[in-house]
Amino acid sequence: MTNTATGHLREPLNWPEGGVTRIPYRVFSDPEIYALEQEKIFKGAVWNFLCLEIDIPNPGDFKTSFVGEIPVVITRDQNGEIHAMVNRCAHKGALVCLQERGNRNTLACVYHAWTYDLEGKLKGVAFRDGIRGKGGMPKDFDPSKHRMEPLRVETYCGLVFGTFSSETEPVPEFLGPEIDHHVRRNLGRPVKLLGFHSQIMHNNWKLYAENLRDSYHATLLHTFYTTFKVNRLDMDGGIVLSKRGWHHISYAKRSKLQESAEYQDAAVHAAQYDSQLAAPEMLDSWPEFDDEITHSIQTIFPTLSVQLTLNSLAVRFFVPRGVDKTELFWMYLGYEEDDEAKTRMRINQANLTGAAGLVSLEDGCINEFVQRGTRGSAPDTTAFLEMGGRDVAPSEGSRATETAIRGFWKGYRDIMGFE
Ligand code: FES
Ligand SMILES: [Fe+2]
Repeated sequence: MTNTATGHLREPLNWPEGGVTRIPYRVFSDPEIYALEQEKIFKGAVWNFLCLEIDIPNPGDFKTSFVGEIPVVITRDQNGEIHAMVNRCAHKGALVCLQERGNRNTLACVYHAWTYDLEGKLKGVAFRDGIRGKGGMPKDFDPSKHRMEPLRVETYCGLVFGTFSSETEPVPEFLGPEIDHHVRRNLGRPVKLLGFHSQIMHNNWKLYAENLRDSYHATLLHTFYTTFKVNRLDMDGGIVLSKRGWHHISYAKRSKLQESAEYQDAAVHAAQYDSQLAAPEMLDSWPEFDDEITHSIQTIFPTLSVQLTLNSLAVRFFVPRGVDKTELFWMYLGYEEDDEAKTRMRINQANLTGAAGLVSLEDGCINEFVQRGTRGSAPDTTAFLEMGGRDVAPSEGSRATETAIRGFWKGYRDIMGFE
């Protein structure tokens, strides 16, 4: 088995020549690597998205979530302070909070009724002194030594992040100035939750991390984008990368479309239909910012994304559920200041994305196609990622590039120590 303490795999992984332009298919299906990722990435020096601040607006509110496979619960205490801890009873390990969200003064485990305060400190043990003086806990039992395991928490732009590491730098530094700027653009005002849902994808979590950074596929796989000119590579746009390449922003300006001859190439033309929308008002939008950007997908390593397409603002968050299974959570947002008409338009535009979205329906299966297609591949088989060059660098003016995906793999290799 994996020796996670030393990070050694029984079957060592030597990264192929070509660095981040070659991805060994093994990383999508090897249970040992998957186990090592839980230790090194999710329990490592990254900030994991936990929930939105508006998920727990009031004292006593709690929300359950996940850091990698680890169940966590996020609470707001009576002083308004936010805490996060592993959702695991200090007695025998049962889940403490069984509901997705709720409001409580204390957290109680159903198994033997141990109770915790909203910080996860143990406050009560049923039958601690036994029954009629018999049984009970030993005299030296010290409740302060038994609590739910806490995480470090930071809130930033309405997002609650948690980490198990004492070394993770503050969130804005973790993001870097470019990414920080764009998160503030999209989430720097009070938001309200318009709706949420989740979907199960039958693929390794990293295939979705890649897919979000894959600006090349959007104009080809997502025929709706291309046909109705919501997001195409012949619009002005580009890729912004954080300094280390881990996080990215892909953006496009719809008003700056200059139809390119390449779109008439047979292979590309197949990605466009001669269709009309019965309700074209679905794409009605208003300029939200004065930078002319009408589409942006942004990732924060490892498992968070913020989208603003036309006026559809959403946070996506994905959770590994096994080596070949991932749960993707969608949270649709509006700004608190929105009037009813704006809210209606945002909800209408939410039809673009999500599990059954006109655009993103395909992403629900394309990653599974990779998972299935790479099964049984020889140990040295790899993906080939040289679109837009071989480096990890921002791309001004073109999104016909895989640079952001290479950036993800750079981060992955940095953390996993795969050389
Ligand atoms: S497992 Fe929670 S009280 Fe026993
Ligand atoms: Fe996609």
